[in-house]
Amino acid sequence: MIGMADAKPQISSGLEGVYIAESSICRVDGQAGGLYYRGYSIDSLCKNSDYEEVVHLLLHGRLPKAQELAETKKVLAESRNLPEGVVSTIKHMNGKAHPMDTVRTAVSMLSAYDPEVADSSNEANMRKSLRIISRTASIVATIGRIAAGGEYVAPDNSMSHSENFLYMLNGKKPTPQQLDIMRDMFIIHAEHSSNASTFGTMVAGSTLADIYSAVTAGIAVLKGPLHGGADEAALHMMNEIGDPDNTEVYITEALAGKKKIMGFGHRVYKAYDPRAKVIKTYLLQMQDSSSEEVKRLTGIALRAEKLMIDKLGQSHGIWPNVDFFAGPVYRAAGIPAEIFTPIFAASRTAGWCAHMMEYWENNRLFRPLEYYTGAIDLQYVPIDKR
Ligand code: SDX
Repeated sequence: MIGMADAKPQISSGLEGVYIAESSICRVDGQAGGLYYRGYSIDSLCKNSDYEEVVHLLLHGRLPKAQELAETKKVLAESRNLPEGVVSTIKHMNGKAHPMDTVRTAVSMLSAYDPEVADSSNEANMRKSLRIISRTASIVATIGRIAAGGEYVAPDNSMSHSENFLYMLNGKKPTPQQLDIMRDMFIIHAEHSSNASTFGTMVAGSTLADIYSAVTAGIAVLKGPLHGGADEAALHMMNEIGDPDNTEVYITEALAGKKKIMGFGHRVYKAYDPRAKVIKTYLLQMQDSSSEEVKRLTGIALRAEKLMIDKLGQSHGIWPNVDFFAGPVYRAAGIPAEIFTPIFAASRTAGWCAHMMEYWENNRLFRPLEYYTGAIDLQYVPIDKR
């Protein structure tokens, strides 16, 4: 007999349109294409701030005073060094696992080195958040470094978060342009309200699991190509297109085959993603790049953007999102595709931790319902009678 529950309830597939909490951390204006961290637009933060100041803003709800910023930078810098066990795990997984799996594993492993892991006080969670934010960046840089055949580079605590990331990744100081790109990428990927990975973090933390467990859940969710994995997938698509002159045919055929074009569309933005605009400014600076690869990728990206907006922009609300232009710009900064999403994770640790601590202030276990349509009350049949 099929379950005959009460009248079928309204089901919100993918929780579309469902509000799960009140929050003062981030406003995503999907219609106008605006993004605000604690009331400040990402444009103003990219122009005036840096990632460490954005971390303080997200975690504490306001811009820091000079002494507070100095203290945040000091704690982040002093937390950068990785335990030997974490470095050897990264080495062990190199070439065997996708870098996002290595990030997920290494961040989870950090909990074994944190004496406060079980302390759920807000003060301890604030301290753990800074350690997670700092060390996840070191983990991602080390993954990229070891994948390129290098050895672990000890952090330079005199450098900023973004500068040290590139230093640990490449073993040398970044150029001014690389540093500008990295700082803005860390800022614009830091937070985005209740996206899938932040929601995953909150679901884990709503059981009162510790913040390392919650962030590990966020990393696992971010990996998917419908979410954070789209930046790497978009670059793979551009490499498949190969020559800018193939762009229109490739995209048209993909759409005709009902394929999703990675880096476009969004559950909330029905306008141009403001983060894509920030990244595109760097792309436009690279059109005459000396690198053949960057010139080719830039040509493809700009032609794909025009075609997708013509076909699906106004009519379907499908616009470029944060993941579309990231690939060519990261490549121009010498960053390998396999650590695009890991960088997203390193930056988003700030948003995950901020939402987790905010949610814990009025915690409630997440436990949604399913409308049961299966059989009920069946009689058990012995195996020789089936
Ligand atoms: C991120 O939520 C966040 O805030 C996430 C994020 C963050 O900072 O945390 O902003 C980061 O994840 C950005 C999104 C990265 N993902 C991609 O670029 C993957 C490609 N995009 C799509 O998969 C899609 O647009 C989603 C998943 C992003 C959003 O999809 P929805 O809201 O579930 O919408 P849908 O898949 O139901 O699409 C509605 C229609 C469908 O057509 P029909 O079946 O109705 O005919 O639009 C079409 C889709 O086929 N469509 C696309 C498309 N995105 C939607 N068609 C072609 N290419 C696309 N990219």
